[in-house]
Amino acid sequence: MSSTFVAILMGSDSDLPVMQATIDILKQFNIAYEVRVRSAHRTPDAAKAYVKDAEERGCKVFICAAGLAAHLAGAVAGMTTRPVIGVPVDCGPLQGHDALLSTVMMPGGIPVATVAIGKAGAKNAAYLAAQILAVADDSIADKVKAERAANAKALLAKDDALQVKLNAN
Ligand code: RP5
Repeated sequence: MSSTFVAILMGSDSDLPVMQATIDILKQFNIAYEVRVRSAHRTPDAAKAYVKDAEERGCKVFICAAGLAAHLAGAVAGMTTRPVIGVPVDCGPLQGHDALLSTVMMPGGIPVATVAIGKAGAKNAAYLAAQILAVADDSIADKVKAERAANAKALLAKDDALQVKLNAN
């Protein structure tokens, strides 16, 4: 008996401050998740064992975050046919530009859905995972739609407040 969850893999525990944004949004949507440290370079065998085990236990989407020469998402994508979302972490002297290219430039047939560098990407990884699960889960789809509507309303309220402020001057 397996139950659906999202696996968040990080190349290092030093990626957690960025990936906390992913965790927060999955929590908000009440989506089950696991967070594990596995590295394509430092622990390739453990990464492979985890992906196989997670699939068997019901993992539907993998979110992989790494910085520098970031090969974790690509390596995981080569091990599974479940969707893999890659988050390039903004660390090191190149501030994630290296990780972006390492994550996004996958060869044909082994896709990684690469999101933006850093915290915005970490957020979008969670939203994208939710949208993937929402295809087969109406309650998640409803939450995603409600969140979009709430965000739109909040932005328009900011515009209203701005107009009041500008017209007062
Ligand atoms: C990558 O190297 C990790 O994902 C992390 O972003 C970066 C630095 O790792 P640490 O040296 O902080 O463990 O593999």
